[in-house]
Amino acid sequence: MERVGSKAEARKTVADAHAEHKTVALVPTMGALHDGHLALVRAACARAEYVVVSVFVNPTQFAPGEDYETYPRDIDHDMDLLAAEGVDLAFTPSAAHMYAGDAGVTVDPGPLGARWEGEVRPGHFTGVATVVTKLLSIVRPDVAYFGEKDYQQLQVVRRAVADLDLAVTVTPHPVVRDRDGLALSSRNVHLSAEERVAARAVPAALEAVAEALAWGERDARALEWAMTDVLAEEPSLAIDYVAVVDPATLEPLDAVDRAARALVAARIGPTRLIDNCELLPPAAAGEPAPAHRKGSE
Ligand code: PAF
Repeated sequence: MERVGSKAEARKTVADAHAEHKTVALVPTMGALHDGHLALVRAACARAEYVVVSVFVNPTQFAPGEDYETYPRDIDHDMDLLAAEGVDLAFTPSAAHMYAGDAGVTVDPGPLGARWEGEVRPGHFTGVATVVTKLLSIVRPDVAYFGEKDYQQLQVVRRAVADLDLAVTVTPHPVVRDRDGLALSSRNVHLSAEERVAARAVPAALEAVAEALAWGERDARALEWAMTDVLAEEPSLAIDYVAVVDPATLEPLDAVDRAARALVAARIGPTRLIDNCELLPPAAAGEPAPAHRKGSE
């Protein structure tokens, strides 16, 4: 595996791969790699002949007072993992190199970037949309991989690619979970043993909403309550939001009569947890609705 830190070297190296008519895939990451990232890398390696992974903790997507300084970093371990996966190029620029001191142009993610995570973390999606656009412009991949764990980020990237006519296929990858159901996240390393147990309430809330839907509940507020009830049982957990939304626009829905997405964001101590799941009403999923509600016999 080759590792480069400069934009010019990355451009040149990938241009050589394009000249050899290789399909190029990019997996953008902020490092501290875990099995969730590696699932994206494996999907990229299965699809493309030349795989680039960027490892860059992007300062512009952290608001002042957020965890930029303490965000987990382990570049040597990351490089070992990527080499073992057969990645061709690791792009590991410094922040000073990525952003000129007088850089002033950013990518505005529009209304999609203003709600949910955007409301809790003002400026976050401007930072994400800007750095992803820069990475796509430097690497010029044919396909780029993003995890559904950061579901709103995936939608912001899709919109940016569509609205800015970027010539890349955005490929999502399902959330990868630990055995206890918790979605894999670099920030999970900050959870103490007790917090880790409390954090299970987040996937449990998603299981509860899926179950309520399967039992026939369609009202979006009632479905949100099904999640809130589970989260509220865990006193150490503070809810940022729960929402049942349109899967593309992320606008709140009144009823789940077609495919939707359930979003959850909560804090345990200093650690933020976000998670989500698809909501497919049984008719949309092509399955018969349950004959009766639980406990109705
Ligand atoms: O999901 C992440 O790790 C980051 O937000 C990304 C897409 C690499 C942009 O910095």
